[in-house]
Amino acid sequence: MIYAKTEFVNLFNNFPLDLEFGGKLFNIKTAYQTYGKLNSECSNVILVCHALTGNAHAAGILAEKESDPDNAFDLLSKYSEMSCGRPGWWDGIIGPGKALDTNKYFIVCPNILGSCYGTTGPASIDRETSKVYGSSFPVISIKDIVKVQRELFTSLGINRIYAAIGGSMGGMQVLEWSLLYPDFIECIIPVATAIKNTAWAIALNLAAKRAICQDPVFNNGNYTVQPEKGLELARIIAMISYRSDISYNAKFDRLFQNGLNYDSPEFNKKINDNSVFAIQSYLNYQGEKIVKRFDANSYLAITNAIDLFDLTRGRGDTRTVLSSIGTRTLCVGVSSDVLYPPSELRTTAQMIPGAIYKEITSPFGHDSFLIEFEQLNKMLTDFLI
Ligand code: COA
Repeated sequence: MIYAKTEFVNLFNNFPLDLEFGGKLFNIKTAYQTYGKLNSECSNVILVCHALTGNAHAAGILAEKESDPDNAFDLLSKYSEMSCGRPGWWDGIIGPGKALDTNKYFIVCPNILGSCYGTTGPASIDRETSKVYGSSFPVISIKDIVKVQRELFTSLGINRIYAAIGGSMGGMQVLEWSLLYPDFIECIIPVATAIKNTAWAIALNLAAKRAICQDPVFNNGNYTVQPEKGLELARIIAMISYRSDISYNAKFDRLFQNGLNYDSPEFNKKINDNSVFAIQSYLNYQGEKIVKRFDANSYLAITNAIDLFDLTRGRGDTRTVLSSIGTRTLCVGVSSDVLYPPSELRTTAQMIPGAIYKEITSPFGHDSFLIEFEQLNKMLTDFLI
């Protein structure tokens, strides 16, 4: 069993990060975890990039309770309490004998800029003003996130990475790596992702973002308690897009929660509370869970970065841009993904020289990259040298 521990480093102390959409950020704290050992040639580094509400805890079990005093809500501490004894989100593919074999590779998983698990984000205290950033946190992009990761490697004395892999928004970071730092990276594995956020995905994010912004305590982003109702609803909206009709219908059918039936005395109250059906109970639970561990402004900042993502921006037309990718590439789509349909990633792979396309066959939709470990292990093992 791997015992995981979050490390921290302060970056951009002597010069700022010039943000893609304007403004500068100094003093960026970055949280990260590592698994395995760096070899003497520095040829075994794999970067793992997380998705929207993910974090640096990709594998193993946290060795101890963690905390981030620079975050106004100390969400790292809340996460570490909730995840006590639970493995990291990609533990199914990271570890001895797994595709990202820790006996062979040195795995680095940073928490992204804008998040709330130890890396600087809207809930962090701005060291220049000693106040929480809140609504003053600047607009960030996937490119900015990747530049912070690059700086993290410099601080770790790492001058090249063998591979970068990530699902969903993690896959966007991976794609950006291939073009921003082509000489630094050998291969990329974008999973369940897209080269630009589509109108469909932007529409889904709009519904989630408006839910947050319309919460009575949101206060234009300058809240002192989390806008929980809004964040809950945002998560529920997102969770629908993370699965598929087939998986929800198969798992929940029209079942009632906890043996409730039409004659139960509490039936009328529950139907009005939207908690009669098992699927309602499941989504309500997912909503309640996120508010215990995530920051609403981080949700907004990161979904903005996702919406703004367009790998081709400023680089040319899609074919020209994709054909300029020189890294070895494995694109992994998911057969039932309604958020980033597999056809888009298959087309992307066709335009990247030498790229391989593989598809996870699963009813679990977009979330399959967090569930279908057997298929992923096989695909990754075949691709990584
Ligand atoms: N009522 C209430 N809760 C229910 C329920 C019901 N009818 N049915 C299941 N649950 C609970 C489970 O007890 C479980 O609780 P826990 O997380 O506290 O252990 C939780 O719902 C998850 O169950 P489920 O989604 O069925 O698990 P899974 O194995 O299919 O999926 C994950 C695992 C990690 C993918 C999933 O839990 C998850 O977190 N999904 C969201 C991940 C995400 O952010 N994806 C976006 C990527 S961009």
